[in-house]
Amino acid sequence: MTGGSATRRSNQVTCQGDKKMISKIMEKALNEQINKEMYSAYLYLSMSAHTTHIGLDGFANWFMVQYKEEMEHAMRIYNYLNDQGSKVHLKKIDEPPTTFKDPMDMFKKTLEHEQFITKSINDLMDLAVKEKDHATQIFLQWFVTEQIEEEANDNEIIGKLELIGGKGDGMFMIDKELGQRTFVSEIPTE
Ligand SMILES: [Fe+2]
Ligand SMILES: [Fe+2]
Repeated sequence: MTGGSATRRSNQVTCQGDKKMISKIMEKALNEQINKEMYSAYLYLSMSAHTTHIGLDGFANWFMVQYKEEMEHAMRIYNYLNDQGSKVHLKKIDEPPTTFKDPMDMFKKTLEHEQFITKSINDLMDLAVKEKDHATQIFLQWFVTEQIEEEANDNEIIGKLELIGGKGDGMFMIDKELGQRTFVSEIPTE
């Protein structure tokens, strides 16, 4: 999706000097999105640590997969900036919360955070349109679709947690179900 090694190599040649294909303002906004995706990864890793600590191994697995996916989101943008001859600028990642009330609290915070990310992706798309940056618009389409799935997943799990009221056998079953989630890498590795 972000181009293979051949593209990257050719850009290293064509982008010597100052032949950037995306604007400064777009570059800055995409770098900020790398930071947001990295923070997302950090947040879900913290949730994974917490659920491991309280013995909900299935929830811990789900959040660990989520952490890995977020790292890939960050790397998609990292690769895209490199492909476009732009500069990756990594910034400080904020400390995520480390304690959570219960699984419902975690999934409500997850949904809230994903809604924030969806808005951020939409803002990036608006900027790419304003900048007449067609390549970045196409690149961002993957993220627009991904956010629909992210929010739908969170809503589904919140619905199940509401149904069981957070206790007993139901909780055991949800933990078991979330334990089945596996991580599948979607970006090409070199
Ligand atoms: Fe993400
Ligand atoms: Fe996400």
